[in-house]
Amino acid sequence: MTMRIAVASDHAGFALKSLVVAWLGEIDGVDAVDLGPADTTRTDYPDWAAKVAAALAGGAADRGVLICGTGIGISIAANKHPGVRAALVHDVTTARLCRAHNDANVLCLGERIVGQTVARDALEAFLSTPFEGGRHAGRVAKIHAPERAEG
Ligand code: RB5
Repeated sequence: MTMRIAVASDHAGFALKSLVVAWLGEIDGVDAVDLGPADTTRTDYPDWAAKVAAALAGGAADRGVLICGTGIGISIAANKHPGVRAALVHDVTTARLCRAHNDANVLCLGERIVGQTVARDALEAFLSTPFEGGRHAGRVAKIHAPERAEG
């Protein structure tokens, strides 16, 4: 089954976003859905986080990748959306563990922070690592308890 990955960035993440889309195109069983932007015109990272969150909520994508300058703003913004578990990742280990322990569905990267080789390796770890479930499953469910309480 094909895994659909929604990808977006702000202007500061545009170059790495373009690379991520190209890398995803080389991976069997993966479809990249490039939600933009189309160029480096200054733009606001919460708007792009919202697009990826909507793609996940609407079923148009199975996972997401979001990139800004540091990865911080866009990960904070993404995590405000119901159902999103966005992980700001700086290396392969955090990419692997955000899947294994947190069942992260959005990978966040900082173009100004991580090198391209690390970003590519982290992306591959994010895609290939399964959620371990078990003792982690209840914790992940509790992450979303505030969303349920808000109704
Ligand atoms: C844009 O200059 C920059 O602030 C943004 O990409 C991101 O790093 C914010 O967290």
